[in-house]
Amino acid sequence: MIDSSTHQGFTLWLTGLSGSGKSTLTSALADIFRDRGYPVELLDGDEVRTHLSKGLTFSKEDRDINVRRIGYVARLLARNGVVVLTAAISPYRAVRGEVRAEHDANGVPFVEVYAEASLEALSERDVKGLYKKALAGEIPHFTGVSDPYEAPVSPEVAVRTDRDTIAESLSQILGELERRGLIGCN
Ligand code: ADX
Repeated sequence: MIDSSTHQGFTLWLTGLSGSGKSTLTSALADIFRDRGYPVELLDGDEVRTHLSKGLTFSKEDRDINVRRIGYVARLLARNGVVVLTAAISPYRAVRGEVRAEHDANGVPFVEVYAEASLEALSERDVKGLYKKALAGEIPHFTGVSDPYEAPVSPEVAVRTDRDTIAESLSQILGELERRGLIGCN
């Protein structure tokens, strides 16, 4: 078990296109952290949109609201010692920057992870069948196809989910968290 008197919460913010592996990585990380005794919460885009952000569209305005909400909840949890994992496309750099700034201003560590995969790989994999539809023009404003995705300029971690295995990406992320002293080396 971890020592809750010395353990500090933080937000691990995954950003990347739909299907890039954000949910896969965050749910695997959640299991790892729980096994190690950390309090963990997962804020997954799809799930947040059925509760906290129900009714929001995929317009820029609504995506920004969605991301701000996730950022706000993440910060409140993380400042109370929770390891918060977020998995939303969060396509706009400015709002991700706002969320980071709010964490910084409150002394809550914010670690941005870019889950990068090429559009070609994502369209080939197409787990939810959305890329096929988007490329056929059936989904307007689909991120990466007909709507912007602004990649992070200097994320703390960048993983290539189209080239590397899940295990490799996980160890890259865990390594960075250890280097920053946010988790122990167990
Ligand atoms: S975000 O832009 O507001 O951060 P979020 O992560 O919550 O997006 O939701 C993305 C998920 O919604 C995708 O994985 C996909 O399943 C679904 N989706 C439906 N319409 C769109 C769209 N136009 N663009 C991107 N994702 C969409």
